[in-house]
Amino acid sequence: MTVKNTDRCAVVTGGARGIGEAIVERLHRDGFGGIAVVDMDIAAARRTAERFGGGDCAVRAYACNVADRDQVDEVFAAIERELGPVSVLVNNAGITRDGMFHKMDNAQWDSVMAVNLDGVCNTCRAVIAGMRARGYGKIVNLASVSAFGNVGQTNYGASKAAVIGFTKCLARESAAKNITVNAVAPSYVDTEMLRAVPEQTMQRFLDAIPAHRLAQPSEIAAVVSFLCGDDSSFVNGECIVVSGGSYT
Ligand SMILES: NC(=O)c1ccc[n+]([C@@H]2O[C@H](COP(=O)([O-])OP(=O)(O)OC[C@H]3O[C@@H](n4cnc5c(N)ncnc54)[C@H](O)[C@@H]3O)[C@@H](O)[C@H]2O)c1
Repeated sequence: MTVKNTDRCAVVTGGARGIGEAIVERLHRDGFGGIAVVDMDIAAARRTAERFGGGDCAVRAYACNVADRDQVDEVFAAIERELGPVSVLVNNAGITRDGMFHKMDNAQWDSVMAVNLDGVCNTCRAVIAGMRARGYGKIVNLASVSAFGNVGQTNYGASKAAVIGFTKCLARESAAKNITVNAVAPSYVDTEMLRAVPEQTMQRFLDAIPAHRLAQPSEIAAVVSFLCGDDSSFVNGECIVVSGGSYT
């Protein structure tokens, strides 16, 4: 039996703004029947859901801190009740708390690990048994080229490198159940996350990008869309770098 996107429910964490919002927009265009916008910022998540909901696509906002395991379990149970079984999970929620390692405090380390790494574990745990039972699933994790090294990001780089390792291991465990698990590693994308970067540092970043510009969120969403669709059925355990030629 062929299952169409219209019969599938997708979850996008951190879907309220930035890359996540662009992913919601793209999956809406791809014809998903239900999209859950899961975010700590419920007001922004509602605005995103309102923008893209309607017609044949039910887009709903859910307040959730992905670092909180119990909250994730509750919210994913609500999503499955209201929108149906989760076929696609995009782990996009992420934070930075940059600083040189010798000055980094415990809170900077712990918060980044809790959201960027534990968050991915919590949401995957909430969906993996159902995906295995149904014999279908697509999981896409947002990593970063910082996993390959960046000044001031030992916490963030370590969390994203761990996400890439997690992705590759879960892909091997899940492939026989028709589940793909892939990662996307962008370089610098024009979102709120970069607003904290000082102008001089930003110029240094731009100088190092062969394309001489930041990525647009839609350019990351396009790659995520491919990994969420059936055209990527034999792509598994990959980390696709989207860097305008910076990391080749
Ligand atoms: N912007 C970049 O240059 C860049 C580069 C590489 C990778 N990334 C990754 O892409 C993803 C999205 O980045 P962005 O630039 O759109 O970020 P952003 O800061 O613009 O948006 C992140 C969204 O995640 C939500 N969020 C944060 N913590 C959360 C939590 N604990 N639970 C639920 N929601 C939470 C925020 O409310 C926000 O809506 C992140 O994983 C980030 O690490 C971004």
